[in-house]
Amino acid sequence: MLDLAAASATKAEIYEEIADRLYRLVEGRDPIANTANAAALIWQLLPDLNWAGFYLAKGGELVLGPFQGKPASPQIAIGRGVCGAAALWRRTVLVPDVNNFPGHISCDAASWSELAVPLLRGDSVVGVMDLDSASPARFDDRDRHGCEILAEILVAGTDF
Ligand code: SME
Repeated sequence: MLDLAAASATKAEIYEEIADRLYRLVEGRDPIANTANAAALIWQLLPDLNWAGFYLAKGGELVLGPFQGKPASPQIAIGRGVCGAAALWRRTVLVPDVNNFPGHISCDAASWSELAVPLLRGDSVVGVMDLDSASPARFDDRDRHGCEILAEILVAGTDF
């Protein structure tokens, strides 16, 4: 198993490790159980986060699901904020500076950068995975790629 405490672990190695552990965790197919474990895993293994969690599509909006970090908006309309944009556009939204994202919803004043990845089942958005960091431009294309793979593993193993 990768020694993630080693400062030399690359992003690719860290995402590989998270993906491997997530595969093994999503044996049951319950959405709350699986997103709760995914949030805990990401929070534990990805450095420099101040929020990691999920919004789940329900009744035409996004409803707060399992997460780690400070309390957050209970509902987000599709199209609103970073998470709503990811759901509307059905693609990952990477925001280096949230102050420059029109309509950004601030749940923690410390947040500076954000990555929102839609959970896609075919053409439908079943939820959004959201990561925040207090560091500017914390997320890059390696994070986008790594998190999109995590989202695929989660959707494949869950009855959303
Ligand atoms: N910033 C998000 C809201 C969720 S919190 O960051 C946890 C947004 O603009 O959609």
